[in-house]
Amino acid sequence: MQKVIEDIRAQKDAHVEKLKEWLRIPSVSTDSSHKGDVRKAAEFVVEELRGYGFDVELHDTPGHPVVTASWLGAADQKTMLVYGHYDVQPPDPVDLWRHGPFEPTIEGTNIVARGATDDKGQALALVRGIGAYLKVNGSLPINVKFLIEGEEEIGSPNLGPFIESHKGDLAADVVLVSDCSQFGPGQPAITVALKGLMYMEVEVTGPNKDLHSGSFGGAVENPGHALCKMLSSLKDDDGRVTIPGFYDDVIDLTAEEREAIAALPFDEAEYREELGVARVHGEKGYSTLERVWARPTLDVNGLLCGWTGEGAKTVLPSKAMGKFSMRLVANQDPEKIEALVVEHLHKICPPTVKLDVRPLHGAMPVLVPSDSPFLAAGKRALAKGFGAEPVFIREGGSIPVVATFKELLGIDTILMGLGLHDDNAHSPNEKFSLEDYQRGIETVAYLLDEIAAL
Ligand code: BES
Ligand code: MN
Ligand code: MN
Repeated sequence: MQKVIEDIRAQKDAHVEKLKEWLRIPSVSTDSSHKGDVRKAAEFVVEELRGYGFDVELHDTPGHPVVTASWLGAADQKTMLVYGHYDVQPPDPVDLWRHGPFEPTIEGTNIVARGATDDKGQALALVRGIGAYLKVNGSLPINVKFLIEGEEEIGSPNLGPFIESHKGDLAADVVLVSDCSQFGPGQPAITVALKGLMYMEVEVTGPNKDLHSGSFGGAVENPGHALCKMLSSLKDDDGRVTIPGFYDDVIDLTAEEREAIAALPFDEAEYREELGVARVHGEKGYSTLERVWARPTLDVNGLLCGWTGEGAKTVLPSKAMGKFSMRLVANQDPEKIEALVVEHLHKICPPTVKLDVRPLHGAMPVLVPSDSPFLAAGKRALAKGFGAEPVFIREGGSIPVVATFKELLGIDTILMGLGLHDDNAHSPNEKFSLEDYQRGIETVAYLLDEIAAL
């Protein structure tokens, strides 16, 4: 292991150069004009894995390609499946970046570019840690498979069917994912819960065309008001979602879990300051971390109605459109929630307007058993790589495929986040600490030995 770590340290600059190369490819999965770039980012992974000696394949799907790779020379040993995504969110609003979003720039100890932390930096740390081990020793202590996709940021629509039809090839004992965060700088963590998601678009139609708000105001319902009233009624004054049945399948936090969360050093004043809010807000009866990590939430994501250009226009709009999503916790089922929401919206919609509800996408929540020996191995590897004792945390974000791994392959995931909460994922000036990148590469090398020893 000493030699592997020495090699990883000697290659420090090369690790950064490779990451820069990947970050220069604008692999925005939601934007069809970037389809060719998304493919280039997949081809980068192919080259990278092939360079280390893995058996690599690029698979076309109805959407963006999936890259798989393997090294299976450890007979009678465990198999780890490594997942990551090479697609990124759109860089908009581009003018808020300090430099081009696809011109990776070193600022102090960080690398700044779209995809730096989510997920190219974290995924490449896994590839290079395992690659270094293989290069130095000529073999790995366990079998390793890779599955790197290009549709995570659009809800992984083609990955479920891909996994279903490649179950045998993807069979493993455990999955490793680095696509989340540490608890804080210098405080590594294993994530044991991810939220699920149900995302909806609602359209409310009033009159058959935009009207003069003086001539018709007071005579017909304004769809903007109707939509806002419906959306705002979805939460009560205690911050609880009002959709009947919404909380039915929620697994409550145990007293021990609440104690463990309360024991983490969370500075709420600093949190408010960082976000520029005077007060935090959410479901009554729960702490901020509990609400973000373990309670389901509902948020408006977008509203569109009437005149939003410069100045005033006295219009009574014909239509109003809203997007909102619910983050779900175990054991809520997005399909069941979808049915409850659609029924409820139709029930509360006033008879003066027409309603169209369109579910956009969903993801299952994840709760990993924290007594798994694989998580213990993950903790030991993080302790060596980061030089600090890791804690268990949960996340408010979603990684749709993690539930699919459990469902189709029957295996749990080690969620080993290398990022930080202020990395600006999905925001301008996304960054990733180069120190965390390097520590992550070393950690995954340690992890191979830790899993082999189980
Ligand atoms: N890496 C994130 C998930 C994440 C976010 C983990 C925050 C931990 C903290 C992932 O790339 C992501 O953005 N997921 C989407 C999923 C959606 C598009 C289905 C999300 O959470 O919004
Ligand atoms: Mn991600
Ligand atoms: Mn993301």
